[in-house]
Amino acid sequence: MLDLFADEEPWQESLAPGAVVLRRFALPDTEALMRGIGQVISQSPLRHMVTPGGYTMSVAMTNCGALGWTTDQYGYLYAPVDPQTQRPWPAIPEAFLALCQKASTAAGYPDFRPDACLINRYAPGAKLSLHQDKDEPDLRAPIVSVSLGLPAIFQFGGLKRNDPLQRLMLEHGDIVVWGGESRLYYHGIAPLKAGYHPITGECRYNLTFRHASNSK
Ligand code: SIN
Ligand code: FE2
Repeated sequence: MLDLFADEEPWQESLAPGAVVLRRFALPDTEALMRGIGQVISQSPLRHMVTPGGYTMSVAMTNCGALGWTTDQYGYLYAPVDPQTQRPWPAIPEAFLALCQKASTAAGYPDFRPDACLINRYAPGAKLSLHQDKDEPDLRAPIVSVSLGLPAIFQFGGLKRNDPLQRLMLEHGDIVVWGGESRLYYHGIAPLKAGYHPITGECRYNLTFRHASNSK
């Protein structure tokens, strides 16, 4: 399918110390990314995880990579095996890795080697409450977060839950990278507004790349 937006030039916006938005950076790759998502979810389907507190998350999730982020009755953890299929998570597709490498380098983190990629799917109304990404033992590695499809409002705060929030619209092809001083900053996604996007249909996807093992 022709990507009508593929010729828009990317640009960068700084967000916080160590954090940058790479606007439209993923546009040339979005169709390859969607094929990768299709392959991953055919092996490890999207599912609504249940938090340790018993709350069913509105965002549907799955993973690829050596480790996948998941929940159990005790908490949040990275696991090498998909608890639903009892098989290892699918490998991270080559197109994902190539884009992540380009993006982390552009953002000033050329050594980032992700071993976990969380795939989030937002239907209208789905949201992700304010949280920190803090289940990774090595906090030297940044987070690389790719937005596909319907736009969403990203909230980006500070080290404390009640620090003031910046609100920015993330659109198809945008990538946010945060690390260093802002690695543990609170962030979240406001409830998704209904709409239609030619590449993703009636939803938004997000790919979140992390280094989740102990070793470099
Ligand atoms: C996340 O914080 O894991 C996802 C953020 C997003 O969907 O953009
Ligand atoms: Fe997060």
